[in-house]
Amino acid sequence: EEGESASSEESEPDEAPAADGPGAHTGPPSAPLPPAPAGVGHESPAPSRPPPAARASSPSQGTASHPPRPLAKPAVFVPVNRLPEMQEERLKLPILSEEQVIMEAVAEHPIVIVCGETGSGKTTQVPQFLYEAGYSSSDSIIGVTEPRRVAAVAMSQRVAQEMNLSQRVVSYQIRYEGNVTEETRIKFMTDGVLLKEIQKDFLLSRYKVVVLDEAHERSVYTDVLLGLLSRIVALRAKRHLPLKLLIMSATLRVEDFTQNQRLFPKPPPVIKVESRQFPVTVHFNKRTPLEDYAGECFRKVCKIHRMLPAGGILVFLTGQAEVHALCRRLRRAFPASRARAPGNQVPTLPQINLDNYSVLPVGEGDEDREAEMDEEEEALGSDLDLDLGDEGPDGGEHPDASLPLHVLPLYSLLAPERQAQVFRPPPEGARLCVVATNVAETSLTIPGIKYVVDCGKVKRRFYDRVTGVSSFRVTWVSQASADQRAGRAGRTEPGHCYRLYSSAVFGDFEQFPPPEITRRPVEDVVLQMKALNVEKVINFPFPTPPSTEALVAAEELLIALGALQAPQQARRMKQLEVSRLSCPITELGRTMATFPVAPRYAKMLALSRQHGCLPYAIAIVAAMTVRELFEELDRPAASEEELASLKGRRARVAQVKRAWAGQGASLKLGDLMVLLGAVGACEYAGCSPQFCEANGLRYKAMLEVRRLRGQLTTAVNAVCPEAGLFLDPKMQPPTESQVTALRQLVTAGLGDHVARRVQSEDLLDEKWRNAYRTPLLDDPVFVHPSSVLFRELPEFVVYQEIVETTKMYMKGVSAVEIQWIPALLPSYCQFNPPLEEPGPVYCPERGRVLCHRTSVFYRIGWPLPAVQVD
Ligand code: CDP
Ligand code: MG
Repeated sequence: EEGESASSEESEPDEAPAADGPGAHTGPPSAPLPPAPAGVGHESPAPSRPPPAARASSPSQGTASHPPRPLAKPAVFVPVNRLPEMQEERLKLPILSEEQVIMEAVAEHPIVIVCGETGSGKTTQVPQFLYEAGYSSSDSIIGVTEPRRVAAVAMSQRVAQEMNLSQRVVSYQIRYEGNVTEETRIKFMTDGVLLKEIQKDFLLSRYKVVVLDEAHERSVYTDVLLGLLSRIVALRAKRHLPLKLLIMSATLRVEDFTQNQRLFPKPPPVIKVESRQFPVTVHFNKRTPLEDYAGECFRKVCKIHRMLPAGGILVFLTGQAEVHALCRRLRRAFPASRARAPGNQVPTLPQINLDNYSVLPVGEGDEDREAEMDEEEEALGSDLDLDLGDEGPDGGEHPDASLPLHVLPLYSLLAPERQAQVFRPPPEGARLCVVATNVAETSLTIPGIKYVVDCGKVKRRFYDRVTGVSSFRVTWVSQASADQRAGRAGRTEPGHCYRLYSSAVFGDFEQFPPPEITRRPVEDVVLQMKALNVEKVINFPFPTPPSTEALVAAEELLIALGALQAPQQARRMKQLEVSRLSCPITELGRTMATFPVAPRYAKMLALSRQHGCLPYAIAIVAAMTVRELFEELDRPAASEEELASLKGRRARVAQVKRAWAGQGASLKLGDLMVLLGAVGACEYAGCSPQFCEANGLRYKAMLEVRRLRGQLTTAVNAVCPEAGLFLDPKMQPPTESQVTALRQLVTAGLGDHVARRVQSEDLLDEKWRNAYRTPLLDDPVFVHPSSVLFRELPEFVVYQEIVETTKMYMKGVSAVEIQWIPALLPSYCQFNPPLEEPGPVYCPERGRVLCHRTSVFYRIGWPLPAVQVD
């Protein structure tokens, strides 16, 4: 979820006209009655029969322990016309009895923290409290941020439904899409979207309240928003336009927010929502953890389903591919047809709605990108300790289950309609079984879960601080996460959590997961901060600051890209002491900051208005940002047939890639030419699912590329209206000279990602065969076998990223001409005499004055041809 941002202008309310529906926001100041339907254009119902909202509007009613009393500050009251059954559901939520406490705190303090277990109703209810208390109007709305796109979409739908309002009023905005209108009063969005809005309007004048949800997840952008909002709240107070900030967290560990003097000089009040959690019995595995945790999950689900009383099962796995594999396996083991089969003795459940089985076409479980945020002694309990002995390893494959199992996948990239299925009750008599990644840990609460099966693992992206090499690794979750997962079992009645690891292993888990900002490169964060004129990023009040090392690395990259002034230069210009960590932003940097992509790619875009390269550069950058356009075909096959089919598809994709890469000049652009070819060809075919399927492309990824191309085109036009760019989805292939220009643009953007093929003297050692050297790594790196340059192996290349699997592999490889390096990447080269020294240069070997530098090296001393600089 890199560089999340929104092209929000088009979709957002400008000065919206006052809503003209009765009761939209015109409740009398202190008397909440009579409520009117919120729908626009309806007559109020006859006064003799108060609508459900009359009861609905006083949420404490009906909970005996909290008799209603008037709010301390009865602000405007905006009636909501909820359906009675919705209201009944709401009243069961623990947070309802805290409404007064929360709203009083909000009225009295600018910043309030609300902590409550997952499922206590924070996300769905707090925005409604705020709405009812009049914290929104036609020109200032309630904003709610979520770290995950899934949650932003799902929660806006849910809240609209609960309030009986349309999504024109309760809306969402995520990176590529949204349904915000001028009627919008509650806007759910990803945290990146709000960050982009701050760049356009630092005071966020369009909001009366901002709710930062899921603050415990400590996503990078939520952390940055916390720091920024702490300032914005103060600024707004000075201008007498108070802004309220609510921070919502699923855990009580909020010291990073409350004990942080720099962030909040006056610690905000913390309101704890008592959870109505039922006891969950935790069962650890006796044995040491298994490698095959997915298989173990399968066996455990089978046992639970056959042996234990009714109640939904929730399984935690680490990624999309695993989720799909387990879903398939479970569906095979408990086929839907069993319920209908003759002789089936389930007389009480004759009617299974087979359409409700969400069956994904086999093969859709493609690749794993879950770790973005996306990113886990009693042996199964004595009551469950069954002998698996004679069942064999896959004994569960043929269980004698008469009860149908309603198997549903859940992960963040799942289409929203599919995600919504987990919230619906399963077909009558069937047992719900949701196989999820850690999206289900805190962001989404699935009703009716009684059993949790926790593999104890999570997939995380790891970055090497120094080299930037990233790898996805499956690691143990933290204790806090494991407890969150267990908690999912006790929502409606006492439950059980089966942990597929021993209690000793649990004891070794880290207590809390480290905040994301401490785990990844921060060049995008630093660039965005600089664009907000936060020059000394090191002094910014992060809840947990990134390491100085990471900040220095980011600043150095940005200086090299020309986005920040180099310290010498800055010092010369401002005659000030400018340390390495406070370099001001350049014009180029400001331009780059407006593009919603990583700085390296933003640099390419900023340079690309030449030789007619803009549309191609946009397509390449969009394709690189979306990542993994091609289906993952290296996955292990479950059967002989699948293996054959995978092999066939691999061959087909390799052929298609060669065709897209072309020959000669075009092939030198390498994998980026393939991306360009894929985007172009796919658009010619109308971006149809069939075309994608036939060519091994991921349909969803291609749609995302299309959207991002549109968004980048808009962004380029905003910076440079003279470019007069319009998105022509269908591109002619670039000419030969355009390809060369594109290669140079790519080199300019990926200047720190240059690799050079090892020279013959290194080849004594077998491990260096066909290897490349990079300035930052001691180990050999290789061109990935899926690259079209795998057989070409040019001397100099730039790569998109290095991913470590069995070896260090470069992905997204493109060939570079040696003479370009000093010319395009002077900041990465050492010149002798140095570049700063103007004037003619004496060349001792030739005994005369030349305009040439006598020696030039790329970073670690790779000699380059001398270059003319004058
Ligand atoms: O944010 P928090 O974890 O505190 O709770 P929430 O997301 O507001 O969820 C409150 C309740 O609404 C849970 O019991 C969910 O199961 C339920 N819910 C639902 O039934 N359907 C949805 N689409 C979303 C939430
Ligand atoms: Mg929530």
